[in-house]
Amino acid sequence: MGEKKIKVAILGLGTVGTGVYKLLTQQEDDFLWKIGSQLEISKILVNDISKKRKIDIDKSLLTDDWQNIVNDDEIKIVIEVIGGIEPAKTYILEALEAGKNVVTANKDLLAEHGKELFEMANKKAKDLAFEASVAGGIPIIRPLKQCLAGNSVEEILGIINGTTNYILTKMTNEQVNFNDVLLEAQELGYAEADPTADIEGYDAARKLAILSSIAFHSRVTFKDVYAQGISNLSLVDITYAKELGYVIKLIGVARNTEEGIEARVHPMFIPNNHPLAAVNDSFNAVFVKGNAVGETMFFGRGAGEMPTASAVLGDVIDVARNIVNNCTGRIACTCFYNNPVKHINEIKTKYYLRLQAKDKPGVLASIASVFGNHDVSLATVIQKHRSGNMAEIVVITDYVQEKHINDALQIIKGLSIVSEISALIRVYSNSIDEE
Ligand code: NAP
Ligand code: HSE
Repeated sequence: MGEKKIKVAILGLGTVGTGVYKLLTQQEDDFLWKIGSQLEISKILVNDISKKRKIDIDKSLLTDDWQNIVNDDEIKIVIEVIGGIEPAKTYILEALEAGKNVVTANKDLLAEHGKELFEMANKKAKDLAFEASVAGGIPIIRPLKQCLAGNSVEEILGIINGTTNYILTKMTNEQVNFNDVLLEAQELGYAEADPTADIEGYDAARKLAILSSIAFHSRVTFKDVYAQGISNLSLVDITYAKELGYVIKLIGVARNTEEGIEARVHPMFIPNNHPLAAVNDSFNAVFVKGNAVGETMFFGRGAGEMPTASAVLGDVIDVARNIVNNCTGRIACTCFYNNPVKHINEIKTKYYLRLQAKDKPGVLASIASVFGNHDVSLATVIQKHRSGNMAEIVVITDYVQEKHINDALQIIKGLSIVSEISALIRVYSNSIDEE
């Protein structure tokens, strides 16, 4: 057996830090048999020591000086729950350099600077654990790195932002407008005060970059991920989706193809019979398809004080077990390939398209002819809602390359019979083998 008491420091005492403090104190009596050692909170780094806290806390634990932590050789685990790039990045690098293990929930940092952080952890043979950085309380990093390590992961589909899933669920079930639900999501504390990263897909893109890197063993960063949010989504399309047997979700799609990795976040038509279609409200889910295991889905709370703290504490216990057994750094960075990430123009998928055109003979034929000239084959065409001399046309395509449909739409937009391209939304099909 190694050390009898392992000292930990928490950086940040906000939403997640408070949950971590609560769990570390609640579980105190169990650590000896869970780990073979006790855990002791040695220091907590905050921005403002005088700030009134939501919990009753021993004030002598609080410090606003990082040097008090990094220079304390007895601290073996640093839990970073400050968030953002700096000073979190410097603190993690310095902690690893000083021979400490790190647990973090910081998706922003990992999605942009993961390589540098993991190289330092590898060099020092220390653990850098980050379960909470993707999908909050849902176990997904460890399942991918360990339980599914015997697979070649083919595809990941994730509902990995709670705010947008809540908004889309309300729009679908109650026909409420986007802006009204966004206000509600903010009041309920799901969305950030500035909800841009949530609704424009950037938060999900950061999480998808982390998932893709682990699943495909090749570094994918935030800037590699195509991100399109839900702020332009209309109730009309949600209603059409229902009529056609789908539900619209903001999906992170990661695929390992022979031509490269696909990593994209955008609204998507999901067939009603797909397990992700039933994931509602602020819940998250990650659907993983492996060559051996087949289809699996991980579901639960993707954010919040205690669900996120649950993931952080799981990491802390894992790292502490490694310390006790003298095997930190056991599962190092697994990005041993260097595969290209495809540009969005290169992806192939099915599309839902809604446009407004003149209601007269030959219109559908003219539009279909432009699609035909661009290798875009149509699976379903519906003409609806005639008003005056205009009609709304709804199309679902077969598998098409993104560039081809965009080129075709450039021409269709210019036709005198077409007044507006109202929506273009990607459609999921149950099997990637159909491509
Ligand atoms: P938060 O509520 O804003 O808390 C941030 C904490 O960091 C505060 O206690 C703050 O101190 C402290 N802090 C800020 N700047 C600091 C600095 N320069 N030096 C020292 N301390 C500093 O954030 P959070 O929601 O807990 O999120 C923390 C991390 O978890 C982020 O990376 C986030 O992406 C991730 N995460 C959060 C959730 C969630 O549901 N909230 C879910 C998954 C992952 P003061 O208290 O003194 O101001
Ligand atoms: N704002 C995020 C969400 C929570 O809505 O899912 C933290 O990842």
